[in-house]
Amino acid sequence: SLFALCYMLFAYLIGSISSAILICRIANLPDPRTVGSNNPGATNVLRIGGRWAALTVLIFDILKGMLPVWAGYYLGLTHFELGMVALGACLGHIFPIFFKFKGGKGVATAFGSIAPIAWGVAGSMIGTWLLVFLISGYSSLSAVIAALLTPLYVWYFKPEYTFPVALVCCLLIYRHHDNIQRLWRGQESKIWSKFKIKK
Ligand code: G3P
Repeated sequence: SLFALCYMLFAYLIGSISSAILICRIANLPDPRTVGSNNPGATNVLRIGGRWAALTVLIFDILKGMLPVWAGYYLGLTHFELGMVALGACLGHIFPIFFKFKGGKGVATAFGSIAPIAWGVAGSMIGTWLLVFLISGYSSLSAVIAALLTPLYVWYFKPEYTFPVALVCCLLIYRHHDNIQRLWRGQESKIWSKFKIKK
């Protein structure tokens, strides 16, 4: 419907508010687009050295995905429309209209938009991310593996959402192509390492 389309645009605009850039500005930290992995996301803010800043970024980026989808659910949007709202929020985060279309990788926002589907889905996503992270120490690898498995979790708990969730997961994996190349070459930086990534 036209309403759903406008609502998706609204989610895109909300997603476009980069909390990493804004919170680093407020906390007097360097611009996350110019240090570490150059990515405006919670992982890179943690690298820059702000634990509280990183946690705040994580929470805000999760809410950017969660609130529009949750509200859309109570407004009566269909499964597919809710999926488009989730996609809109993630597209906003990744290609923000307010920051020259150069944003983050969408992990926290995608999690926030998918988690409300079911507790089992949210738990499985967190569990997968944590397990890969504890084994490998790579935030990006954890996100990619979680994105690969999330459509399966959704299919198990709430199959009607599988297709839209798979679209969001594809976007996430695509956005990690640089990370995947670095992982492949053994040049990916772990979450704690401060060194600058070789280009
Ligand atoms: O949250 C984004 C993460 O998956 C990768 O971040 O900074 O290591 O490229 P980064």
